[in-house]
Amino acid sequence: MHSILLFFYIFCLAWAKDIIPQYDAELGVTHVFVTNITIIDPSESRQQEEYSRLQSPLHAFHRYKERNLAETKRWRDWYKKIPKKQRSIVESTVKYTRKLNTVEHLFETNEQLAHEIVKHGKQFYNISQTELDQFIKENEKKGVNTDKTSVSQAMKHFVRDWADEGYEERQDAFPCVLGTLANMSRTSEQPLRVLLPGAGLGRLAHEVNVLGGFEVTMNEWSMYMNLAYRYLSSLSSANGKIFHPYIDWWSHQVTTADLQRSVSFPDTLVSPSVLLVEGDFTTVFAEDAGKYDVIVTLFFIDTARNLVSYFENIHRLLRPGGKWINLGPLLYGSAPFLQLSLDEIIALTEHLGFKFQETDASCGDITIPGMAVRGKEVAYARNGKGLSKNAYQAQFWVARKN
Ligand SMILES: C[S@@+](CC[C@H](N)C(=O)[O-])C[C@H]1O[C@@H](n2cnc3c(N)ncnc32)[C@H](O)[C@@H]1O
Repeated sequence: MHSILLFFYIFCLAWAKDIIPQYDAELGVTHVFVTNITIIDPSESRQQEEYSRLQSPLHAFHRYKERNLAETKRWRDWYKKIPKKQRSIVESTVKYTRKLNTVEHLFETNEQLAHEIVKHGKQFYNISQTELDQFIKENEKKGVNTDKTSVSQAMKHFVRDWADEGYEERQDAFPCVLGTLANMSRTSEQPLRVLLPGAGLGRLAHEVNVLGGFEVTMNEWSMYMNLAYRYLSSLSSANGKIFHPYIDWWSHQVTTADLQRSVSFPDTLVSPSVLLVEGDFTTVFAEDAGKYDVIVTLFFIDTARNLVSYFENIHRLLRPGGKWINLGPLLYGSAPFLQLSLDEIIALTEHLGFKFQETDASCGDITIPGMAVRGKEVAYARNGKGLSKNAYQAQFWVARKN
């Protein structure tokens, strides 16, 4: 599959697979370092680690424009390779140079958003401009390239999660999850605790919160996502921000106006009652065994390097009788320790102590006869006006911890 959908989804996975140093819960890092004379406080070492995880994303958002203009410069150079006579036809008919100029100008508009994300991130995480400048200077001296794709991906999630334009995609994915939760018995005095690991920009978590009677925790590892989410949380007016999400990918466009269109966000404001816990799902909830009534995994489980650790962790964090709701594909990324088929996942998780429950036919057709798992076509980070319409046959299940 060679679509934008796959492209962005793979990058989401790549955050997990290539950058997180350790996934295996059993081998989780203990933050205690003892030398001959000094004992370093584990919390300090943790802060240090978090701090260094932030700098590269801040640098990457900061260099948004430069990295993208380097790309448009390449496009310009390639364009120069076509014969002059052909170029003059292209210019007189479609004004290709003007298109390049316009897109470069729009990258400058997007840069304002990227810089606002950096500004808010510095305040939120208490990083001074001097510290960031120092980091950027050292990195650039070493010739380190910033991660343009992760920045673009995080910004495109403003569309998936928080723009009117993402509504259809959310309607593909959310109703079965929300319907299952809505039917659970609960009261506002005794809310059910729900955890959503790998939550991205967290719209599903917020929709769960809107249902009422749930105490919602979302978890996300990528600091690109977390910077974007913290920024989103600081916004106080609906649809007050605009950007041009599609200008960095010129394939599959119907019109140039579509390519250059702007999208406004957030369609609704982020609620402070949803808690974001940053970090690796397999390690940050070390103390929370049995704490959650429900765990919701949306387009998440296939980010695992070690699927068994994900499943064991989901099982450990649920109380007995707690529910695991899943919707997503099985798109394994660059270096998973194991790649299981759906039937193997069912067998393994049943062995770990889950019982798959019957679900409503409106959530898709049964994928494997005799097994309570349904398949449903769901898009991911799709450009709604684009010519590429790929989607996943996402797998939906509700499993009860015995
Ligand atoms: C494919 S994206 C889906 C995001 C979101 N659930 C959605 O549907 O838009 C997977 C997300 O999981 C996050 N992730 C990957 N490994 C993680 C881990 N070990 N702990 C927490 N989040 C993780 C990635 O950073 C990414 O944002």
